[in-house]
Amino acid sequence: MRLSRKKQPGGQAGWAGQAGSQSSKPGQAGSRASQSGGATQSGQSTSPAQSAQSSPAPQPEGRKPLISGNWKMNLNHLQAIQLIQQLAYALEPDDYTQVEVSIHPPFTDLRAAQTLLDVDRIPIALGAQDCHQEDSGAFTGEVSAGMLAALDVKYVIVGHSERRQLFGETDEVVAAKLKAVLRHQMVPILAVGETMSERLEGTTQDKVASQLASVLKGLPRDQRESLVVAYEPIWAIGTGRSATPQDAEEVCAFIRAQLGQMWGEATANQVRIQYGGSVKPIGIADLMAQPNIDGALVGGASIEAADFARIVRYRFEG
Ligand code: 13P
Repeated sequence: MRLSRKKQPGGQAGWAGQAGSQSSKPGQAGSRASQSGGATQSGQSTSPAQSAQSSPAPQPEGRKPLISGNWKMNLNHLQAIQLIQQLAYALEPDDYTQVEVSIHPPFTDLRAAQTLLDVDRIPIALGAQDCHQEDSGAFTGEVSAGMLAALDVKYVIVGHSERRQLFGETDEVVAAKLKAVLRHQMVPILAVGETMSERLEGTTQDKVASQLASVLKGLPRDQRESLVVAYEPIWAIGTGRSATPQDAEEVCAFIRAQLGQMWGEATANQVRIQYGGSVKPIGIADLMAQPNIDGALVGGASIEAADFARIVRYRFEG
């Protein structure tokens, strides 16, 4: 299969570790160019999504928006190549400057995806959907964090509600997985969220607070700021029923406040918080305009190149 060489934002020389997590949301004071793209865009003041807000809350440093595609158990490695090539054509160099993009294909696709991203110098970060908490051993069928790191994986989702509900993962297991990811210098995307009955009972905050406290307990200081938390209300996943921007913001602000209580406000203000659950091109701009929402964890819409590209380019969405 011939690999395209169309997109080379910034002409960077190599892939591993390029997609930076240090930059701020575009348009904020102190914003600097994406480490993935290299092109300087610091002259821009606000994105359309942000200027849509009458008085945006001050944005701290270090929160470059992160749009992640969780492919779940969809697409084989050949289909993965096709989707990545379509995405690479749909996205422009400036998109990578404004937004960090990660894709989380199934394990069997990772090597093909890594090769394509590397050879074509596509500045999309490679992610995984899960890993085992041990580094090696007699765990038939499992994949370790070290194996993912060897494939230039940068982000690993831990604690997705499908893992918790369908595969019985407890907070203790999720905490061990999070530590395994960090042990191998990758970034965990920790998923938290409530069921519909918990929401109706008014225990959303209790649920999220307890997930955060159990999983993040004892996390060393130097591993806190790079963390990504994904707020994914279970009732919104795969249902076509996204949380409203206000409801999503309320919980994301609560998550940041909880992190602030645990680690102090300065650290909490560096952590990126994504919203996930039926994210579509329509509505993404309003979600991203919320002061505590720094990105999206996208399921179904991430395996359609056109839809995912529109979500990445949310600043052009109405
Ligand atoms: P959907 O976008 O399909 O609702 O899935 C969300 C999700 O679970 C991402 O991790």
